[in-house]
Amino acid sequence: MSALLTIEDLRRRARRRVPKMFFDYADSGSWTESTYRANEEDFHKVKLRQRVLVDMTDRSLESTMIGETVSMPVALAPTGLTGMQHADGEILAAQAAEAFGVPFALSTMSICSIEDVAEATTKPFWFQLYVMRDRGFINDLIDRAKAAGCSALVLTADLQILGQRHKDLRNGLSAPPKFTPKHIWQMATRPQWCLGMLGTKRRTFRNIAGHVKGVTDLSSLSTWTAEQFDPRLSWADVEWIKERWGGKLIIKGILDVEDAKMAAATGADAIIVSNHGGRQLDGAPSSVSVLPEIVEAVGERIEVHLDGGIRSGQDVLKALCLGAKGVHIGRPFLYGLGAGGREGVRLALEIIRRELDVTLALCGKRDIAQAGPELLYAPNDPFGTGRR
Ligand code: GLV
Repeated sequence: MSALLTIEDLRRRARRRVPKMFFDYADSGSWTESTYRANEEDFHKVKLRQRVLVDMTDRSLESTMIGETVSMPVALAPTGLTGMQHADGEILAAQAAEAFGVPFALSTMSICSIEDVAEATTKPFWFQLYVMRDRGFINDLIDRAKAAGCSALVLTADLQILGQRHKDLRNGLSAPPKFTPKHIWQMATRPQWCLGMLGTKRRTFRNIAGHVKGVTDLSSLSTWTAEQFDPRLSWADVEWIKERWGGKLIIKGILDVEDAKMAAATGADAIIVSNHGGRQLDGAPSSVSVLPEIVEAVGERIEVHLDGGIRSGQDVLKALCLGAKGVHIGRPFLYGLGAGGREGVRLALEIIRRELDVTLALCGKRDIAQAGPELLYAPNDPFGTGRR
């Protein structure tokens, strides 16, 4: 896959290989997609400071996220339906992350189950939790993650109800896919994908199907989430979830300083500054634009991570300079997966690693621990708004 040099290259290849309904699911945001676009665009506003004639030998990107050593501070974010981008997608992505030395977070809405991924990997992964109305099922799910040796629970706080993504409704997204002429056509034009799917038994939500009474498949995703996800979920629930889990807890989906303070007060280990990849509140600011104020408010008390809009190693460095301890990538690894399975995910990570490494050097630093505001061209006004 030598012609693939950027995450955008992987995206284009994935679009040719993955049936439209699943590619679109990954590749879109809610409503007008203004927040989805802002996530990427705002990274371009941040300018790095070039420094020259400094020794660039012996560089290191090694760091930690929630106390775990990582080869670079980039985790694979929990993404729904990953096993529909490529057969056994979660297993392949987890294996690529493990080989690379970065964390992998498995979504509740994954195709491969917690147990499937645990069986196919040797190091602990993280598990992302959606809280549903059926608390018995949620308790079991937490216990299953514990039994599988997961080393962190990522509680998603911003999706009790689903932001509308028009393409999913137009495409009639479901897993497994329906066999209407439109869907059959979408799959028939992606023969390699079909072959992979025929070769696996993992074609529906295996964390859920067979575990929730009466659920064998989730025929329409939007209807199913509306029926099952718990709209009453509140800060009070964090306590019992934390207690039942008993391990490292990360709260995902924080975009507001007041919420960041509430999250820090729960005693969680980290927060992820996130607008769900622009898939929930359309009209919300980009995650990178609110990162500085959140770091300023709670950065001393809790580890702050970021997701949303990262498409390069340069973006990773900018997020770190603005105070993130680590970042999570969703679409970049999904594009890699769709483009080329496990090797595609490895390539996505490698592209980002190379960009991050050289960019850090061109800023005159050799160790990722030195990433900070002094590497930014305008640290007091990083987005050029004239305000900060
Ligand atoms: C679920 O996490 C989604 O964003 O679709």
